[in-house]
Parts: sequence; structure tokens; C-alpha cells
Amino acid sequence: MQVCFRRFARFLKVKFVSAHQDIIAKHYSLCKVYSTSVKNMSVEIQTPSVRGLSSIFPPHTVCGMKVLDRDAFRKEITVPSIFVTVDKVGEVIKLIKQNECLLKMDNLQPVQDEGKDKIILLNPDSYEEKYLKIRQCFKKVDINSVSWRKITVTYENWNSQDIFKAILPPNTPGNISGYSIIGHIIHVNLKTELLDFKYVIGQVLLDKHPNIRTVVNKSQIIENEFRSLNFELLAGVPEYEVLVKENHSQFAFDFSKVFWNPRLVKERERIFKNIDSGDLVYDVFAGVGPFAIPLAKQKCQVHANDLNPDSYKWLCHNANLNKVTQYVRAYNLDGKVFIQTIAKLDFLFWMRDRKQLEACSCFNEFASCALVL
Ligand SMILES: C[S@@+](CC[C@H](N)C(=O)[O-])C[C@H]1O[C@@H](n2cnc3c(N)ncnc32)[C@H](O)[C@@H]1O
Repeated sequence: MQVCFRRFARFLKVKFVSAHQDIIAKHYSLCKVYSTSVKNMSVEIQTPSVRGLSSIFPPHTVCGMKVLDRDAFRKEITVPSIFVTVDKVGEVIKLIKQNECLLKMDNLQPVQDEGKDKIILLNPDSYEEKYLKIRQCFKKVDINSVSWRKITVTYENWNSQDIFKAILPPNTPGNISGYSIIGHIIHVNLKTELLDFKYVIGQVLLDKHPNIRTVVNKSQIIENEFRSLNFELLAGVPEYEVLVKENHSQFAFDFSKVFWNPRLVKERERIFKNIDSGDLVYDVFAGVGPFAIPLAKQKCQVHANDLNPDSYKWLCHNANLNKVTQYVRAYNLDGKVFIQTIAKLDFLFWMRDRKQLEACSCFNEFASCALVL
């Protein structure tokens, strides 16, 4: 009798020696048993880990799915479980957590009632990996047997990243992590090789983010003069008016009509640090006010301008929303005109008093150049 094993040699051997070859086969869908004779038997255990996949990974049949079929994710898995009397639960859970082998899946309770006592479900991959160590730990608390238990898992039990890895073919990037959340909208920028899967990706993102109602994909680079995005609805409702919180302020706007980039939050913070309370600020390209509004809250006097009528509308709305109308004057002008009229007049006035001029901050290099000119 010969056992060909790879990574979990000790575990497999124990099972095999105890004549549980049929159980091994059941435990691993990928287990192939080649049996020629009892004398010359070779068992090749191709555990899912050999393929680089967890044994609690979604079914391989979902690979390549382009229209989401949630039922296709239903799968029976076999996981190690231990019976624990209720008085020992706390102690055992602590041990399991130290060994990081609790079965953690979305919407699945790893500690379940068994009459008055409890059954604790373990992660089969971690259990196999740390088999000896875990068994030793269990012995210390008088747990000597670990049994294998079949449970049914469904689409609800996997997180979006596991689902993407399962659905997307091996030659595509299986990781859809570079997306932005803007209020109730998820905004993805899918690589070309993922476009065939865009609707299924959108639907999974929608399902797995409870506060999201709309998923869009950037369709082109920013190219219009107001720098609003062109995007395509992938899933959910075509509602683009959002409410966003940033830097202790609230911003409402229509994401389909104005510029908004949540990734600039750090840049905005950096700029706030350079501006003191009470400063006079000219924001030439103000958008919906991500600089202007928090600065107004800091009691800066802000002249905020944007040529896009929608940005201007939401800028005024946001000044109201954040109760800073007395600190914000909004303009809907071309930046050059704004500088050459509003800012220039003010600058000339302030220049009469150099001390006041020092307190004047101008956001944009273009603005200062235009003034000098
Ligand atoms: C890159 S966005 C920055 C907006 C804002 N500062 C922010 O961080 O969200 C540039 C803004 O300039 C505005 N814009 C484009 N051309 C303009 C012009 N000629 N005069 C004034 N504003 C303009 C756009 O509408 C847009 O809101």
C-alpha cells in the first residue's frame, strides 16, 4: 500500500492508516483514488490547496460566469468540528482564535448549538496546516476528537473577492479592489480583459455592499471641460445624486454631472493644514466645494468659483447644507475672468495693507500667474 501525498502528509497518512480512504475521498472533491490491488494501491490526494485554492472556495463550475446565477454557488463542504460542553466554550474559542482556525465565512455562525452544548466549526485549510499543534492544544482542554461535518454553503457565505476569484478565468486579474465608493455609488474602472464580465462584477458588488444602490464603470478617461466622468451603469438604479461626508463636512452633488474624486482626500487635508483660520481664500476651480466648505467651517472667508453650472449649483447647496453661507461667496465664472475681476479687485484693495495681504491664500498657481500678468 502506497500513499502519494504532498503537503499534508502526516494528516493524510493518519487518515489512511486508519483505513479511512473512503472518507478522504469524500472530504476532497478533487481526490482521485487509483486502486489496482490492495497490495499495490496508490492514492493521489490532490487537495484544493495544491491548486492554490482553499477547500472552502466556491464551486469551480462558476468559472467564466457572465450572468450572475446565485444558485450555482451552492456547495457542500466538509469541515472539522469539535463538540464542546458549554462551560468550556470560552476557553476553547480562545485556543482556536490563537491558532486562527475558526471557520470564518460571511453569514455563517461557526459556534452552533448542539442541545445544551456547542459545536465549533473549524477552517479545514488552517486545521490541516496546523494539525499537530491544534490537536495538542485541544488535548490540554480534554478535547480528543475532531469530527468532520458536512455543511451547505451558498452565495451568501462568500465575500465578493472570493466570488470574483471563482468567476473570473485564470488569465484575468481576479482582484477587483481598486474601486471608489461615493455615497451609495460604487465606481469601478475595469481593465479591458474584464469587460466581458462587467455586469456580473457589478451585480456582485451591489449584492455584497449593503449600502450601495448603484454600480458604474468608468467608460473613458476624463475628457470633458468640467471633468465630470463618463460612465456606464453596471448594476442597480440609475440614481446619481449622492451625499458624501469628508473632513467633517457634507457634500451633496450629482456624480454624473460634476467632478468628484474621493482619492484626493489626503491632498485636501494637506492643503487645509497650510491655511489658517480667518485667511482669505480664492478657490478658482472649486467644484462642489471640497476645499471651500471645510475652510469656511474653519472661518476662512472663501471666494469659490466654478464654470460648471452644476458644480456652482451644488457648491451653493453645500454652503447652505453646512451652514457656512456667511463665509462662502460662490461664482459661476470662467476662472480667468474670476481672477481678473473678483480676485484682482480684492487684491488691489488688500495690497493697500501689506499685513492683510499676508493673510491671503491663493489656491492655484494659475491664479497667481494670471494676477501677476
Ligand atoms: C479637477 S476639478 C477640481 C474641483 C475641486 N477643486 C475638487 O477638488 O473637487 C476642476 C474643476 O474646474 C472646473 N472648471 C473647468 N474649466 C473651468 C474654467 N475655465 N473656469 C472655472 N472652472 C473650470 C470644473 O468644472 C471642475 O469642477
